[in-house]
Amino acid sequence: MGLLDETGKSIGRVRYTAAQGLRSAWYGAQYAIAKRQSSGFNRPGEPPFKPTNPVDTKELRAGYFKLFASDRANIEAGLYPPPEDVRVVDLPKAVKRARYFLQDVAEVDRRRVARDGVEVRDRLEGSNRYPAYYRQNFHYQTDGWLSDESAKLYDHQVEALFTGSGDVMRRAALAEIAREVKGRDQRRVSLLDLACGTGRFLRQTMRAFPRLDARGLDLSPNYAERARQQVEPWPHVEIIEGQAEAMPLGDASQDVIVSVYLFHELPEKARRQVFAETARVLKPGGAFIIADSLQFGDAPGLDGILEYFPEGFHEPYYKAYLGWDFEGPMQAAGFELEKTEIAFLTKVNVWRKPAA
Ligand SMILES: C[S@@+](CC[C@H](N)C(=O)[O-])C[C@H]1O[C@@H](n2cnc3c(N)ncnc32)[C@H](O)[C@@H]1O
Repeated sequence: MGLLDETGKSIGRVRYTAAQGLRSAWYGAQYAIAKRQSSGFNRPGEPPFKPTNPVDTKELRAGYFKLFASDRANIEAGLYPPPEDVRVVDLPKAVKRARYFLQDVAEVDRRRVARDGVEVRDRLEGSNRYPAYYRQNFHYQTDGWLSDESAKLYDHQVEALFTGSGDVMRRAALAEIAREVKGRDQRRVSLLDLACGTGRFLRQTMRAFPRLDARGLDLSPNYAERARQQVEPWPHVEIIEGQAEAMPLGDASQDVIVSVYLFHELPEKARRQVFAETARVLKPGGAFIIADSLQFGDAPGLDGILEYFPEGFHEPYYKAYLGWDFEGPMQAAGFELEKTEIAFLTKVNVWRKPAA
């Protein structure tokens, strides 16, 4: 898929490596600056945090490079197209976004040091539009999920935190979508990106399958609006503002439901409700593709790094998620586990709703 030019030279590989290398360096540098501008991982007056499991830095580095190698292999196998080009003309925009990201670091750090993860709740006093668990500043983000500014910053923050590997990890789920679509008329495959956020993944999905009968759903009006902008080139794609526990979608209406980085943000009760709701909306025989954080034991050398996330950032349900067994609740909702793939710090599970 475009990785070889007409002379047979593998320019695709060189291009991929150069572009991804540049992205990683770009975001890695911003992460380093953000870290330098912050008060340090250990909060003043608190003993230094030590994970119970030591981090295997060799395994961490190997996992990072393996992720890019698998992504490139997926592209070469024709599962999805190469990522959008890194272009010189986009540099001014990228610099502007980087500046905006770095300006916000002090605010995030202030909340982090104060362990204030519910600032946004005070602003929403009296509103019952959102469940209580949602009205928080996840990751100590400014405005939580609930402002245009937060929606503008979110993807950049993710890429900086994961040194340019956020989109690449998400594409591990795209490979599974490609396997679901293979051999079918994509116009007749209905897909829901559940908790689509700013539409970053849905955009990658539509680039790969432009005629897919797709939609995204998210509870944040601001993130949903940004997602609409992301999928503008595909006007048939609808972005729905709604709650995963009660979706405004018909029974057995979707062939594929995919969710990326949702479940570690939910309390256990909500997770179970979302499983039941997904089972209702999915067609018999349909796939529920869940891409989310690794859990303890998935890559034992990385268990230590997983411990850092809920300690360093406001991740109220993540600690419990790390040891939570999906199997029982998913089986209770009627799903069978078909496949598991590890993509660096992300795990992709394909669950199947048995055919009637
Ligand atoms: C960590 S972000 C992931 C976003 C996106 N899928 C991605 O790959 O970046 C979590 C998203 O879940 C959404 N969310 C959280 N709880 C939700 C719920 N109960 N119903 C719908 N969306 C929800 C948030 O608004 C946010 O956009």
